Amino acid sequence: MKKMIVVILSVIIFSMVFSATITEIKAKGKLLVGTEPTFPPFEYVDENNNIVGFDIDIAQRIADKLGVKLEIVNLPFDSLIPALMQNKIDLIIAGMTITEKRAKVVDFSVPYFNANQSIVVREGEKFRPVKLEDLKGRKVAVQLGTTGDIVVSEISEIKVVRFQKFTDAFLELQNKRVDAVVLDEAVARAYVKKFPKFVVSAVIDTGEKYGIAVKKGNSELLNFVNNVISEMFKSPYDLLVEKWFEKAQQ
Ligand code: ARG
Repeated sequence: MKKMIVVILSVIIFSMVFSATITEIKAKGKLLVGTEPTFPPFEYVDENNNIVGFDIDIAQRIADKLGVKLEIVNLPFDSLIPALMQNKIDLIIAGMTITEKRAKVVDFSVPYFNANQSIVVREGEKFRPVKLEDLKGRKVAVQLGTTGDIVVSEISEIKVVRFQKFTDAFLELQNKRVDAVVLDEAVARAYVKKFPKFVVSAVIDTGEKYGIAVKKGNSELLNFVNNVISEMFKSPYDLLVEKWFEKAQQ
């Protein structure tokens, strides 16, 4: 009886500690990718209620190369890392910036996109901040746990209002309950294009890079993901060089 309990317990603990190997993902037949889909054009919900975008296409490519189905797991941004650590998902693909702090608890792929923060305000109004300091004494909406949240929270005079969804942050801006939204530039541009009542008033040079996160220590899956990313960076020209020059050197 005691032995039985020990065996059962160790199986449970083992599966909690160790993330899915590629063999296990293949056996499962699906790749679980966590994301937070209010982040166009990287991940957003389209008119047919599907989660689509740049990141989702990368996720699909990884799933295709593994020969499994892709399952998108929709989570609040600040729940993505905990979900990965608890093996509830295999990967995070969410326009997630590689930061030192995050890299202590998850492993990041090679960078796949460069990003900066930006400030969005209402169009047609006088208030046009050009730097973060101009937000002092103002109410600023961010997404909870993002790098935008981090940069504005560093300035104590800013009143930070945190949302799970960027769509809610923009609703608050529209309803004049906040004075600005701080978020990644490419995403800010996508919102402004869709809603011209907003305008990007400044870009803050934060020099961020997005990476795909795997569970800490899962080097097998990490290498696989890195290979898929590197392959995507190859132009037809690179492939031609590889084909003819590497061959010539053999
Ligand atoms: N790049 C920022 C960060 O890592 C924001 C990412 C938000 N992504 C999302 N899918 N909501 O903190």
